[in-house]
Amino acid sequence: MSVTPKGPVNQSDILIVGAGVIGLFCARACAMAGAKVTLVDRARPGQGASMAAAGMLTPGAENRECDPVMMAFGQRALSAWKNLANEDAFPTSIVDLHFRGVLDLSKNQDGLRERALKAQNAAPLLWTQNDLTAFEPELAYEGAALSFPGEGQVDPIKLVAFLEKEVAALGVTLRPETDIISIDLADHPTAKTRTGETFHADHIVLAAAVLPDALWGEGKISPFLPVKGQAISVESDMALLRRIIRLDNFYIAPKAENRLIIGATEEPGRTDLLVKEETVDQLMQKAIALVPGLSEARLLKSWAGHRPAVPDRLPVLGRSRQNSKLIYATGHYRNGILFAPYTADLVSQLILGATGPDWLSAFSPQRFDV
Ligand code: GLY
Repeated sequence: MSVTPKGPVNQSDILIVGAGVIGLFCARACAMAGAKVTLVDRARPGQGASMAAAGMLTPGAENRECDPVMMAFGQRALSAWKNLANEDAFPTSIVDLHFRGVLDLSKNQDGLRERALKAQNAAPLLWTQNDLTAFEPELAYEGAALSFPGEGQVDPIKLVAFLEKEVAALGVTLRPETDIISIDLADHPTAKTRTGETFHADHIVLAAAVLPDALWGEGKISPFLPVKGQAISVESDMALLRRIIRLDNFYIAPKAENRLIIGATEEPGRTDLLVKEETVDQLMQKAIALVPGLSEARLLKSWAGHRPAVPDRLPVLGRSRQNSKLIYATGHYRNGILFAPYTADLVSQLILGATGPDWLSAFSPQRFDV
């Protein structure tokens, strides 16, 4: 669909569509490299998938299938986070970034051993019941666990607030409530908004969580299949856990000030954002069964979000076939917060003309012929 421009025309080196954590980190990386960046979002920064996330930085614990490409990507992404934590100017404690580890619980010790071998680059340790009791005394689980000691978490809401200020300080033009509805690559990359405003840029980065047909690719149907997740946060009177606890896809992530995020359902094909009371109860009961001390905790909030997924559930990251000046950085499914800083490094390298590592071809948007 094309719209006749009516409003002002904006020019920048790089236009980034989508101001979630991925778009914000891309804007930060490109601005730090000296580019003039415009970052647009159809709503406010971080109001979509980023706000719904628990902020887990857990590549080994999350990648239960031990897919080698995802494992390698996840480890690089975790290193990018550790590099950030070491930057003097990065407000590690303000965004509640730490690496206190994750425990992935199971009753099947043989299964855990097998997985530990496959997940060697995440360096997991096999924890026995005695280890669990000694190091997480509030945990009532009987079994064993894989411990991923270097993995961690960040607070996505505090992170968005920090990045929003940071990109503004770096000179990025941030345009909330700016709904891009078409992109024209025929001549110079151009994006148009619903109200007829036009943005020109040397490169356009698509970092929105879900891309409608009109932005996905000319004449193509967008393949996104968002996966709904419902989650809750609670507050307890004392610190109950040091590490993130996982049991299959269920998790309890201890945050600052004795808050804990408990999540999350996996509901493919559900496009609504309803939170069911029954689901809140189920999440709470599951958490209490693992950590009985949570029976005293107060419910703070419940919410639902959509994980941005395409059918193979791999990221969509790389240059478009139609035009190398269009770059996709989306479809990060369960790992958007983890991948974001590393995705941003790759995006800024692609913009500078780098080929990117060989394995990046597994994530190319070109697998969808766009
Ligand atoms: N990464 C956790 C989730 O998607 O719920």
